[in-house]
Amino acid sequence: PRSIWISRHGESMYNLSGQIGGDADLSHRGQKYAEELPKLVKNSAGDRTLTVWISTLKRTAQTAKHLPYEKLQWKALDELDSGVCDGLTYGDIEKQYPQDFKARDEDKYNYRYLGGESYRDVVIRLEPIIMELERSENILIVTHQAVLRCIYAYFMGSPQDKSPWMEVPLHTLIKLTPRAYKTEEERMYADV
Ligand code: F6P
Repeated sequence: PRSIWISRHGESMYNLSGQIGGDADLSHRGQKYAEELPKLVKNSAGDRTLTVWISTLKRTAQTAKHLPYEKLQWKALDELDSGVCDGLTYGDIEKQYPQDFKARDEDKYNYRYLGGESYRDVVIRLEPIIMELERSENILIVTHQAVLRCIYAYFMGSPQDKSPWMEVPLHTLIKLTPRAYKTEEERMYADV
């Protein structure tokens, strides 16, 4: 059966400082993950020739750098746009935009950052990606937390409005194999 592999980018400098959005480089640990990823993938996908889908942000290209496969960049895989909050920490947002902080807490799926996006917006912009995925084989997607949560929810058959709470941790390769009644999943953790 067809499988899809998904992974977040390795830890970035913004992940370390707790800032959201941006276009930061990988941290040292994130680079270690990038170095480990080919082995993790090979163990799971064997000799299949994969195609790697990345976003237009540096941290996904840096994570995919050592993978010996063709890479395809998609703007639609960029992280949820946090608008005016881009580059802030959750603490900064709570201080500078207290009403927004509260609104997001109350309805995380529908909350749209000022000048940015909501999870609902991301689900919509992912439609072409999902369509293309459904008719492709041997795809590995290296992208961002919010985007992967939506893709993961889709394949697991979870309601899309549950996407914001899906567990998609760093430094974990997830193999999804859709079957007749449910999608099988396997998680592989990198020791970095
Ligand atoms: O912190 C990493 C990150 O990918 C941010 O860039 C993004 O805004 C956030 O996670 C999405 O997670 P949440 O929707 O839980 O804030």
